[in-house]
Amino acid sequence: MPTNPDDLSDLVNLFDFEKKAEANMTRLAYEYVASGAADEVTLRWNRQAFDAIKLNPTVLADMEKPDTRLSLFGYELPYPILIAPTAYHRLMHPEGELATARGASAARATYVVSSFTTTPLEEIANVASQPLWFQLYVRDDREFTKELIQKAESLGFKAICITVDTPVGGVRNREQRVDFGLPDTLNAPYMIAPGPQKKPVTWKDIEWLKSAVNIPVLVKGILNPNDAVRAIQTGVSGIIVSNHGGRNLDTVPATIDVLPYIVERVANRVPILMDGGIRRGTDVLKAIALGAKAVLVGKPICYGVACGGAAGVAKVMTILKEELELAMILTGRPTLADIEKSVLWNPL
Ligand SMILES: Cc1cc2nc3c(=O)[nH]c(=O)nc-3n(C[C@H](O)[C@H](O)[C@H](O)COP(=O)(O)O)c2cc1C
Repeated sequence: MPTNPDDLSDLVNLFDFEKKAEANMTRLAYEYVASGAADEVTLRWNRQAFDAIKLNPTVLADMEKPDTRLSLFGYELPYPILIAPTAYHRLMHPEGELATARGASAARATYVVSSFTTTPLEEIANVASQPLWFQLYVRDDREFTKELIQKAESLGFKAICITVDTPVGGVRNREQRVDFGLPDTLNAPYMIAPGPQKKPVTWKDIEWLKSAVNIPVLVKGILNPNDAVRAIQTGVSGIIVSNHGGRNLDTVPATIDVLPYIVERVANRVPILMDGGIRRGTDVLKAIALGAKAVLVGKPICYGVACGGAAGVAKVMTILKEELELAMILTGRPTLADIEKSVLWNPL
């Protein structure tokens, strides 16, 4: 029985948002968001891997309020959690990306806007009072692609994330079952004629696109440590370790399992962010302990906007931030810099 979509008072954690969203969203929209690739093995691993990591708290630490601030690409974030790029927010809520941007701003979070936005970038920039980044899918039309990131830069977007793990979409059986397609009433203005591109995207494109803007360029979707090294040679400003939320190539490892290998090879040369399965403050703490500078959340934001528009997005971010603060107090870690490997339980 669908409940009142705007009543958020009964939602106390991110899993509650998913349950409520399932009851309220159209089946088409819910299956699209929930879908992992193929047998959804990686989708499950993204969560299971976090749950399998145990914590090792320190008691009686001399701390008052935990300090979750960090500095990234020259500005300060109040806490290390960003909104991952996800497509088609107007499918989830009538205000679409505007609701997401307003919710992000209310929660003082950086919002990475997808190439598949159903709202023009100008309109999003108009309502956002917190930093925006732009996620790019490189199109066959390279001139259009270049102009798009230059447009984002001129609108004040603070970074570009080029997604590199999606030369084609993964096997999405849930989408096939609901015959997923964007309703005629909606459009994604920067992804006219989506689908497989004819011209392969290579490291040369990353180099070229990097030279087209003066804001940091990150690559999103790195799993192989050799690719991380290659990305640094190309001169990117940051790396996002991601398996696309388990939506592309099934049976790749959980991102939290991959993270330490990439951190080791990158050796502090650029900041590393990660996403995939973050649902609890303790997940954020674990990712930071293993070397992530910050994390991003995808599906919970889709469920947040579906449940309550801007207020839903803000509540998702606030719950995660407050859970992170509790985890820091309970593990005795006053600042993000204090969250290192010793906070993880290491059996003798
Ligand atoms: C509904 C949905 C749409 C997505 N669309 C995009 C996209 O347009 N571009 C992109 O780079 N990643 C996209 N992603 C992947 C997310 O950016 C992110 O990597 C992933 O959702 C993180 O895992 P989580 O959902 O477990 O937090 C999408 C994910 C979902 C769930």
